[in-house]
Amino acid sequence: MSRIRLSGLRKTYGDTVAVDGIDLDVADGEFLVLLGPSGCGKSTLLRMVAGLIEPTDGRVLVDDADVTAVPPRDRDLAMVFQSYALYPHLTVASNLGFPLRVRGERRAVVREKVAAVAAELGLTELLRRRPKELSGGQRQRVALGRALVREPGAFLMDEPLSNLDAKLRTSTRAGLSALHRRLRATVLYVTHDQVEAMTMADRVALLDGGRLVQVGTPAEVYDAPATTFVAGFLGSPPMNLLDVDAVVGPHGVRARAVGLDLSLPDAGPGPVPDAGSSRALVLGVRPEHLVVRAPDAPDAVLRGRVSAVENLGSEELARCVLGADGGPEVTVRGPRPLGVVPGREVGLAVDPARVHLFDPDSGRRLERRPGAVSPAPSSPAVEPALDDRPLARSLP
Ligand SMILES: Nc1ncnc2c1ncn2[C@@H]1O[C@H](COP(=O)(O)OP(=O)(O)OP(=O)(O)O)[C@@H](O)[C@H]1O
Ligand SMILES: [Mg+2]
Repeated sequence: MSRIRLSGLRKTYGDTVAVDGIDLDVADGEFLVLLGPSGCGKSTLLRMVAGLIEPTDGRVLVDDADVTAVPPRDRDLAMVFQSYALYPHLTVASNLGFPLRVRGERRAVVREKVAAVAAELGLTELLRRRPKELSGGQRQRVALGRALVREPGAFLMDEPLSNLDAKLRTSTRAGLSALHRRLRATVLYVTHDQVEAMTMADRVALLDGGRLVQVGTPAEVYDAPATTFVAGFLGSPPMNLLDVDAVVGPHGVRARAVGLDLSLPDAGPGPVPDAGSSRALVLGVRPEHLVVRAPDAPDAVLRGRVSAVENLGSEELARCVLGADGGPEVTVRGPRPLGVVPGREVGLAVDPARVHLFDPDSGRRLERRPGAVSPAPSSPAVEPALDDRPLARSLP
């Protein structure tokens, strides 16, 4: 088991900044998932940790030792790639046992460990086959097993489940989590799949454009996204984000937009000095926190017309265009049937505690606490680059 620390890690290719100065601490035994859209620098970061790419700047530390200049094979880290490179002429058993034989382990030990890993990954029946006689998913599990059998200090995994079908991905995901709990190994895991991140991670590190945006437990990043990027990346469908005009009163904020009029009693800068001032805000609410009501219901703070309904099986999604003349669209998610049809006028209610506020310029979350809307404290792993302007801009 190992602790991995990244300090100011950076990689540029000509004018392209692939990884832009990352500080990150992966605790001993932690399962940390690097999550972000395609091209945000996940693989580049992981490969620098593995030693396969030389950083332009910054350091990689494993258990307090600076390994930035140490070759990959001497880092005691096992890497699992999206594209599994198995030895085609060796059986599954020999592929799995390869790292142990290289290390000079006794035959009986190799056999025992290979059998244990094969059982863990459901490969026992396939041990005599060669890679070309396996499905893509089976090959991927062999590649995973070959890393597991080494029992390294830490695992570095780059989208190891991406070639599996949905069902196999779910079961392998559960298997990986169970394995992690049993081995208590350190895992740095790259994916762009938020379900993998949310279900397996102790902590999720969100990357955007080579930078860390937020690091936190799955619940923290989902319930309190640090920026509109995180809010819009997590959740399926993601958080509804609406531009609103907010009047900041002595006892809270009143947000208005086309088809939306909503009072947030616990969000305000206090009675003085900014009472009566107004500013633009981004208001966020998750689809599952909107509740369908009659258009004239007293708690219907959003009003609009249903444009589409999608059946997801146990749940349903309804898209609603706000206002009478085609305002912004919001998505509602709830148990099926939601009881609405396209064309129907609806009201939508929301618990004010479920509403998020963001600064429209910086995209940063505004912390809501009784009597104050202020920039959220940045997570310690993220550069403190807060926009310190006061929330309320006084009206002329
Ligand atoms: N060898 C290279 N030369 C030039 N640019 C590169 C090189 N490798 C990566 N990049 C660029 O660096 C950025 C980050 O790439 P990276 O492969 O780390 O992204 P990623 O987050 O792993 O994406 P994906 O989810 O698609 O795998 C991209 O803009 C990519 O085009
Ligand atoms: Mg990648």
